[in-house]
Amino acid sequence: MSATIIDGKKIAQDIKDSLVDRIQDLKSAGVEPCLAAVLVGDDPASQKYVASKGRVCEKLGMRRLVHRLPAATTQQELRDLIDSLNADRSVHGILVQLPLPRGLDAKEIMSRISPEKDVDGFSPVSLGNLVLDRPGFLPCTPHGVMKILESAGVDPSGKHAVVVGRSIIVGKPLALLLLRKNATVTVCHSKTADLPAVCRTADILCVAVGKPGLVTADMVKEGAVVIDIGINVTAQGELTGDVDFASVRRKAVMITPVPGGVGPLTIALLMHNTVQAAGQQSSRRFMTADAYAGDGN
Ligand code: GUN
Repeated sequence: MSATIIDGKKIAQDIKDSLVDRIQDLKSAGVEPCLAAVLVGDDPASQKYVASKGRVCEKLGMRRLVHRLPAATTQQELRDLIDSLNADRSVHGILVQLPLPRGLDAKEIMSRISPEKDVDGFSPVSLGNLVLDRPGFLPCTPHGVMKILESAGVDPSGKHAVVVGRSIIVGKPLALLLLRKNATVTVCHSKTADLPAVCRTADILCVAVGKPGLVTADMVKEGAVVIDIGINVTAQGELTGDVDFASVRRKAVMITPVPGGVGPLTIALLMHNTVQAAGQQSSRRFMTADAYAGDGN
């Protein structure tokens, strides 16, 4: 067997194309969707991610701001920046690139972002809405995995989905989204007793750990769908995932490559959330303005 290779770039492009008219409508109404990115320190990978998010913003005709802060930034300085972005009506989405340098409390900063601008979906309100199956901003990478499954015609209902990795950015929210689609979900992590044995029972195997070559062909059931969410840089400076692509593609029925799999979806869905946030904030503002007009009459 040789797996179908899922083209994440194509799925991401369709999502971005679907935003073009909405962005135009907002701009015609005087609202330019704006994403503010906050980058603390000089982590090269984070710099790259923020730059590519910015490029996509520009391509779509959206506004973007980048706040670059030194690694020595204090928690209070970061709080103050978030407060000013929360209060800035021209900013619709706020993204604090993770991880933050040592000594900064990312969870506290995530909780400070106004829920209506939380386009990353990491605030307690967004994550709470996810747990409660209520509408809200979904974290972009797990949402991207669900879009990939949907577009590949894979229905998780009744399937055994194994998620390797329990991060707040990917593993935990992805487990909840798979559960929402009626999969039976197992979450594995560094203390899982026999990772290969659990992985071999997966119909859908999602891997988000950050260890190149973690998943080898002997850990994959014949005919499984394999979603590689790992992003690692090799000694040669190339991007690679957590799955040994060359061997696993011979066992899986479908597989996502790295690069060109889940990554492009993360950015496309961040744009989707930002446009959504701009729409919601502007309609709320118009509603407020109407209410005032009403009061005056
Ligand atoms: N670091 C790795 N992935 C992400 C992401 O999706 N959002 C943010 N803010 N930081 C990240």
